[in-house]
Amino acid sequence: MDKSLTGLVIGAGKGIGLEFVRQLLANNQIQQLYATYRDPLCPLLQINDPRLHCLAVDITNEAQIAQAAATIQATEGKLHYAINCVGILHTDTIQPEKSLRHLETDRLLQYFQVNSIGSALWAKHLQPLFKHSDQSILASISAKVGSIGDNELGGWYGYRASKAALNMLMRNVAIEYKRTCPQAIVVLLHPGTTDTDLSKPFQNNVPPGKLFTAEHTTSQLLAVINQLKSTDSGKFFNWDGTILPW
Ligand SMILES: NC(=O)c1ccc[n+]([C@@H]2O[C@H](COP(=O)([O-])OP(=O)(O)OC[C@H]3O[C@@H](n4cnc5c(N)ncnc54)[C@H](OP(=O)(O)O)[C@@H]3O)[C@@H](O)[C@H]2O)c1
Repeated sequence: MDKSLTGLVIGAGKGIGLEFVRQLLANNQIQQLYATYRDPLCPLLQINDPRLHCLAVDITNEAQIAQAAATIQATEGKLHYAINCVGILHTDTIQPEKSLRHLETDRLLQYFQVNSIGSALWAKHLQPLFKHSDQSILASISAKVGSIGDNELGGWYGYRASKAALNMLMRNVAIEYKRTCPQAIVVLLHPGTTDTDLSKPFQNNVPPGKLFTAEHTTSQLLAVINQLKSTDSGKFFNWDGTILPW
């Protein structure tokens, strides 16, 4: 890769996204780093680095996505990394479904809007920023529980289905980008179970030693990202660099 890199971390207010910002800023090849957030009190906004530019974007608002992409286009013209870390498993009003009797249209729609559709809308608006001759990466954090082939346990209907939809949408993006931005590598990544707000209520079920810190997860995912080749575009990678089944 080029020695002067421009990046974007989507959903950087906390958790894995915030850690991506910290670790990318530790790389002195990164010249400019854009990061999106929602909460004006999030720790991202406490980071003091002249290369960091924070943009308020709710992934369910396409106009905000378009505006953020236009801002980066106007100032940088290109991106080398875009990493989408946005995701919900539970919110103040949503808990993942344990069984069919918990299925509700509004809850399912919210999972799809945040976990699947948003990533594809970002890919739509970022496309001009990937039309250049340097190798670049568009990565979305998915989840192994979104693997249809790997699903033996059931439950979590909305979360699982929205991550499976994310995988299909981004696989499609990879195919279209191959024609329109052939140097861009589009991948899905499973981070492994990581100690963040998203996993907190479910950590009792995690076997000892299997809960990663956000620092550990992010350094593993960056190692995977930094070894990607153009033939890897459209694939779903585990945190250890192995391929996951769809
Ligand atoms: N942690 C795990 O064990 C685990 C396992 C498998 C996959 N993942 C995936 O890893 C990714 C990162 O999750 P995490 O563990 O870092 O969880 P997290 O700490 O809860 O972070 C989730 C991020 O998504 C953002 N977000 C949620 N709804 C949004 C919206 N409407 N618009 C914009 N941003 C929104 C949150 O912003 P706010 O602070 O504004 O809500 C937050 O920055 C997610 O895609 C998750 O599904 C995590």
